[in-house]
Amino acid sequence: MDKLRVRGGKPLEGTVRISGAKNAALPVMAATLLTPGVHRLRNVPRLRDTHTFARVLERLGAKVAFDANLLTIDTQGVNSVEAPYELVKTMRASIYVLGPLLARFGEAKVSLPGGCAWGPRPVNLHLTGLQAMGAALEIEHGYIVGRDAKLKGATIDFEVVSVGATAQLMMAAVLAEGTTVLENVALEPDVTVLGEVLVACGARIEGLGSRRLTIRGVSSLRPIDTAIIPDRIEAATFAAAAAMTGGTIRLENVVPDHFEAALGKLEESGCVIRRAADAVTVSGPARPRPVSVVTHPFPGFPTDMQAQMIAVCAIGEGTSVIEDTIYLDRFTHVPELARMGARIELKGNVAVVKGVDRLAGAQVMATDLRASASLVIAALAARGETLVDRIYHLDRGYESLEQKLAALGAEIERIH
Ligand code: EPU
Repeated sequence: MDKLRVRGGKPLEGTVRISGAKNAALPVMAATLLTPGVHRLRNVPRLRDTHTFARVLERLGAKVAFDANLLTIDTQGVNSVEAPYELVKTMRASIYVLGPLLARFGEAKVSLPGGCAWGPRPVNLHLTGLQAMGAALEIEHGYIVGRDAKLKGATIDFEVVSVGATAQLMMAAVLAEGTTVLENVALEPDVTVLGEVLVACGARIEGLGSRRLTIRGVSSLRPIDTAIIPDRIEAATFAAAAAMTGGTIRLENVVPDHFEAALGKLEESGCVIRRAADAVTVSGPARPRPVSVVTHPFPGFPTDMQAQMIAVCAIGEGTSVIEDTIYLDRFTHVPELARMGARIELKGNVAVVKGVDRLAGAQVMATDLRASASLVIAALAARGETLVDRIYHLDRGYESLEQKLAALGAEIERIH
């Protein structure tokens, strides 16, 4: 299993180009199932998760080809509606094929995702929403099975704001008969952009960017031709690396508004931030000031930056308080950061972080994607050498992470 060896203590300096967003690419990849045709997706990050999703599409009969970051998906030969357990278990987002398959074929058999490293992560909103649209779904031998579904417009008011359920129901509704109204939808750019991509293909969606979407079903769509938006979480992670190492990093190919909540907190912690149209420069302070952070759906502070922010606060000049309201037990990085000398007390979903002068390199183990990212940025600021184990999690969501960090002056190498 690959590890990362990091020798910390050097401020990171330079420019980094941010890749396309994993969480924007995956639903657009799923949406290619809505229409038989040849779809072109540019700026798709080459990640384990996008490759896994490509394999899911191939299992359904699509032809998928990567050429650098251009992904071509030919869905003319799709001849299966089954997303098997062995693929879905490695990536929950595979469930995104459910709505498009039901919408186009009236049938689907998709493995039910299990739990994940930090808790149950239910998909009930996906299922009840599709059922409200007329799909009779059964759970059979671990699979969600839908047969003879003829999706019809419905009004669905989400009790919890969910990125996945919003994207799922949007994809199902664009080809359904009649009008669907989705209330209390997610506003994450990944979701809004999916809507825009569908509209460009002929879908009729009103209200994008607001909490209520009105979707009038159409009988067919044109193939997708789009560029995936920059990854706001990757950008914010590099910004956090500047904050921790006291360096200056220019982030290129970004949409600053997409990660304003993270930038605002980093500013509060003492970073100097300059925003341009598609670039942001972040200069870290000598030592971060303490902050209090509560995660919320977009435009709030993202749960996907909670772990990295805890790392920043771990070397802060005082006590920070970080609460995750989206995932109550997404804190597997906390005991690992403690092994590097961080002083963090966990009270339920609240981390109380008492800053220390310096972290110390140690052997640590990553347990999920963002937890791994927090360990890497902590290692960049720590004294001595850190070995981060199980970095396959990082490979799911950060394109060329060690190359990008090395280009900023980090001493980092992958050990096979
Ligand atoms: N929820 C339900 N029922 C559902 C769906 C969600 O109760 O049917 C709850 C969840 O338990 C959670 C909240 O709703 O408390 C929000 O979950 P959401 O559905 O928004 O999460 P997701 O769509 O499964 C996406 C990202 C995650 C990110 C979350 C929150 C993708 C592929 N994944 O997951 O990204 O943490 O939104 O912003 O877009 C990551 O990239 O590291 C990652 C985990």
